[in-house]
Amino acid sequence: MENTEIKKRIFSGVQPSGNLTIGNYLGSIKNWKAFEDEYEALYCVVDMHAITVRQDPATLRRRTYETLALYIASGLSPEKNTLFVQSHVPCHAELAWILNCYTMFGELSRMTQFKDKSKKYASNINAGLFTYPALMAADILLYQTDLVPVGIDQMQHIELTRDVANRFNGIYSDTFKIPEGFIPKAGAKIMSLAEPDKKMSKSDANVNASVYILDGRDDIIRKFKRAVTDSDTVVCRAEGKDGINNLMTIYTAFTGKTDAEIENEFSGKGYGDFKLAVGETVADALAPVHAEFDRLMADKAYLETVMKNGADYASYLANKTLSKVYRKVGFVQKPR
Ligand code: TYM
Repeated sequence: MENTEIKKRIFSGVQPSGNLTIGNYLGSIKNWKAFEDEYEALYCVVDMHAITVRQDPATLRRRTYETLALYIASGLSPEKNTLFVQSHVPCHAELAWILNCYTMFGELSRMTQFKDKSKKYASNINAGLFTYPALMAADILLYQTDLVPVGIDQMQHIELTRDVANRFNGIYSDTFKIPEGFIPKAGAKIMSLAEPDKKMSKSDANVNASVYILDGRDDIIRKFKRAVTDSDTVVCRAEGKDGINNLMTIYTAFTGKTDAEIENEFSGKGYGDFKLAVGETVADALAPVHAEFDRLMADKAYLETVMKNGADYASYLANKTLSKVYRKVGFVQKPR
């Protein structure tokens, strides 16, 4: 049902390009439920972004369902939020093409994610990987979005979205709302457990570097037990203690405890006790998500109803912006 324009709008998305990590969870999905009543929210499974890196088709298809199921299993109600798959709403590709023509080569060249991924996937530096931020700008701008809740790594893309929107508005008069990024207080950048100076990533080749949302309890606890820390023994946040700082951030994000409370709780205890407590806390918090995920994955028909309803409503909103854009750039309306 259409929002009567009173509520502000939220848009965000996750790529179904790997097993989602607790970085994805804490940086994005977990925080989305809090917006449910105050905002009108659209959350997308961005499958078109995912193919900027080579994907196995059957795996991509499965992960698209899984990502949608994880949105719901993490607490997002499909009645209160619009949940959909990007490729089901062709306006994303159509607006992306237009925005490509208003996004500068130099701007795209400066994107750190592009630079990182070009190194990582050196044999497949395709044009889509380069123009990816224009597709992301289209995702956001199509819905006249006010707020985009993401992890820190996506803020540069949101800045670019704002620049492109301002540029377009400057040429053609107000067309797009200028969105703001939103990052959580704890969890905006969860680091790898194996190399705590690197972001935790779903595409990390080392499976022990990342805790996946769907990891079993024993795996979660084992991974935290072997998390790389330092040669000190005191649990406290300090420069140079990247591993412990990261574990404290994860613990805070799941429990709401402050640094001082954590330091107090583990004073006189060693890293071993702390790592076990973090592992158990994460496993406990994810257990209900797992149960709900399994239930949803066994009910594809329900997931498909959610996808369809979400895409229908998203298309309705997206078409309004797209037809405005087509008019403004000078495309002739198709005669009826
Ligand atoms: P993606 O799929 O890489 O990640 C999904 C979300 O998870 C966040 N995230 C993290 N947060 C904290 N710590 C980490 N280690 C960590 N790793 C990932 C990301 O910041 C993101 O919020 N381009 C986006 C997807 C996208 C999108 C959009 C997002 C496409 N269109 C429009 C918002 C609005 C991406 O690749 O996210």
